[in-house]
Amino acid sequence: MRILVMGCDGYMGWPTCMHFSSKGHEVIGIDNYFKRYTALELDCEPIVLNPNLVERTRIWEGLTGNKIGIYIGDVTDYHFLKSIFIDHKPDVVIHYAEQPSAPYSMLNREKAAFTLQNNLISTLNIAYAVKEVNTQCHIIKLGTMGEYGTPNIDIEEGWFDIEHKGRTEKFLFPRQASSLYHTTKIQDTDMLWYYVRTWGLRVTDLMQGPVYGIFTDEGKQDSRLMTNFHYDEIFGTVLNRFVVQAVVGHPLTIYGSGTQIRGYINIKDSLACVYLSAMHPPEHGKLRIFNQITETFSVNELAEKVYAVGKKAGYSVEIKHYDNPRVETEDHYYNPKYTGLMEMGLHPNYLTDEVVEELLCLVERNKGCINKNSILRGVKWNK
Ligand SMILES: NC(=O)c1ccc[n+]([C@@H]2O[C@H](COP(=O)([O-])OP(=O)(O)OC[C@H]3O[C@@H](n4cnc5c(N)ncnc54)[C@H](O)[C@@H]3O)[C@@H](O)[C@H]2O)c1
Repeated sequence: MRILVMGCDGYMGWPTCMHFSSKGHEVIGIDNYFKRYTALELDCEPIVLNPNLVERTRIWEGLTGNKIGIYIGDVTDYHFLKSIFIDHKPDVVIHYAEQPSAPYSMLNREKAAFTLQNNLISTLNIAYAVKEVNTQCHIIKLGTMGEYGTPNIDIEEGWFDIEHKGRTEKFLFPRQASSLYHTTKIQDTDMLWYYVRTWGLRVTDLMQGPVYGIFTDEGKQDSRLMTNFHYDEIFGTVLNRFVVQAVVGHPLTIYGSGTQIRGYINIKDSLACVYLSAMHPPEHGKLRIFNQITETFSVNELAEKVYAVGKKAGYSVEIKHYDNPRVETEDHYYNPKYTGLMEMGLHPNYLTDEVVEELLCLVERNKGCINKNSILRGVKWNK
């Protein structure tokens, strides 16, 4: 298949390119280096500076003989995007090209406006390019479990049957986000659902939980091919952050009581879910939604896991509760359904002690590059 990966320089984008390429698909990637520039601007670069995309594709081709085509440009630029669709006629477009950070979207009005504009216009442009160039193309879009919030009822996979005054109807499951970034993901879902109804597009929307890890089968072959690993307050996800904190002797940063529960997923499983979705497209005129997580933990449980493995490895790990900078419910019911991807063939890699140990070793090897100032910068939701 011809696969177009939007946001191919990112944490998930580059491993996705290699994953599809290793399985014999033709891969084209687009990225405007937004994340690299922003990390530089905000003093929160990843633990290792990854080679640029042209260099990575050269290394990949040298290793496997497979080419990955790269375009440096902005998905919100419609003429640029459409010309790539015309030239390559993709069978599948995987859409990662968004501003993915909740704290970034809460920094100030400018960052909020950028998040809205970037995330909504990139999604709009992809819908238009598919409609105008090739309506057969399957859009795989990354959403987030954060779209649902923490309702006091079970969370279904995207859809909800409602019975009201004796009549029934199926709706999108109610969504209520707890950051502006997550709100844009809800708006993406709504927009895609509109174009599915109106133009008959075929879309898979993956409600993903925070991803952890760095090692994928392809990335392990050469350290220069590893994906970027952020541990800072803006771009780092919680488990990756805790591992770095354990290694540098920073207290593990639990926000509030730590009783907030979320669904998590290993980066290897995240790739597998996207791959399975591409191999099993929905029919036309269908918005298919999966909850892309493999297990749930409270923040305290994650911290205790890193504490235990870190102590065993000889680190003096401390756990500390900080005033919660976010506006969120800390004690809540949480029971999401996530069987769809497993029914399609996903075999989860769960969060074992070995996974944490592997991460600790990677961070230890690069300890000298860690910027402690980026761990806690104090972005508050309600300043
Ligand atoms: N990583 C997670 O834990 C997680 C969890 C849930 C959902 N998601 C979603 O998955 C997707 C991928 O996440 P990620 O962690 O790989 O993010 P990332 O920031 O590492 O990757 C996104 C890439 O897209 C690029 N980009 C952004 N806007 C662009 C534009 N207008 N044009 C071209 N390129 C652009 C960035 O430069 C970056 O390289 C995002 O949509 C994110 O919201 C991620």
